[in-house]
Amino acid sequence: MATDPRDAQLGRSNVEDTPELEAFYKELAGVNSDAFWNRANAIEPWEPETRYRPTIWRYDQMRDLCIRAIDLVSPEKAGRRVITLMNDSEAGRENTAVCGWLFSGLQAMKPGEITPAHRHTASAHRFIMEGGGAYTVVDGHRITLGKHDYVLTPNGCWHDHGVAADGQLSIWQDGLDIPLMNVMESNFYAVYDKPAQTAKYPENDLPLSYGAGLKPETRGEWDQGFSPVMVYRWDDVQDALHKMAKVNDACPHDGHMLRYSNPLTGGWAMKTMGANMQMLPKGFTGKAHRHTGNVVYNVAGGSGYSVIGGERFDWGEHDIFCVPSWMWHEHVNTGDEPAYLFSFNDFPVMEAFGTRITETKEEAGGYQQI
Ligand SMILES: [Fe+2]
Ligand SMILES: [Fe+2]
Repeated sequence: MATDPRDAQLGRSNVEDTPELEAFYKELAGVNSDAFWNRANAIEPWEPETRYRPTIWRYDQMRDLCIRAIDLVSPEKAGRRVITLMNDSEAGRENTAVCGWLFSGLQAMKPGEITPAHRHTASAHRFIMEGGGAYTVVDGHRITLGKHDYVLTPNGCWHDHGVAADGQLSIWQDGLDIPLMNVMESNFYAVYDKPAQTAKYPENDLPLSYGAGLKPETRGEWDQGFSPVMVYRWDDVQDALHKMAKVNDACPHDGHMLRYSNPLTGGWAMKTMGANMQMLPKGFTGKAHRHTGNVVYNVAGGSGYSVIGGERFDWGEHDIFCVPSWMWHEHVNTGDEPAYLFSFNDFPVMEAFGTRITETKEEAGGYQQI
């Protein structure tokens, strides 16, 4: 029986049970089958039906918990001493997801600590929230990490992290596509034969070679499927946002937004996850839009609120919140300064599949009417 009035129309399943049909269904079940029309409307909804909920993690609470973990377990014992951000939903707990296909966690490391070297088919990227002297080594490239830098650990690359002995307590947010790798049943994990890699190249060789957005002609060709920049420095990103804002109107939905792109292609920095940094000017009141794909935000500066699926979430620096797929959302800056939102997403997957769809309130009408 149709539960949605739209399901009464031709083209949707609307079959009433009869004793003959029920007997038929039993027979199908006996041979690992079912009548498609029994499931069609549920598995092909009129529009995406997310199983995830908008959720917010307050930095003052999460920071304290991350620091307490330092005294409770060593990074060597934990493998990765990460506090996992679990979406406030059954699906989040089931899939260890922050939202949709995305995993996220927070990691605090004190000076002198290391995370042992390993690799996995899940891609990873990190946003540094605080500290000094932190570094990562990715396939032999040693990269230093400062506050609000964004760094890549693409799938299959050996990586280890640490904080120099004379550094400061450092905290960063990890983003990975672990739920996607698991649903595709393509997740591998391996540990390196030493606790840490030895750097094979001069420190920061990749960002220093590619970070200006110009192609080095006298260096060998880059043949990897990810951005050679590897780390995007906050000062450069903030400067680029402000220059852009001088000569462009703010987008009604996202203010001024930049993509952390692969300068050789203009595409996303990695194949499965993308990231953006946006600035909401003082007084910005965004209009609502929605899109397929999941987005996890980290407030890099300023204060304001977002309305997500009709629910208001007030945020301040380093609070983390998520917008599940196809949920209406709008952002508002309530502070006296520009607000900065770092975010990461699964848009590259949506684009590869040809399913990245966006809608604004003005054009709302639904995919089924296209
Ligand atoms: Fe890792
Ligand atoms: Fe959006």
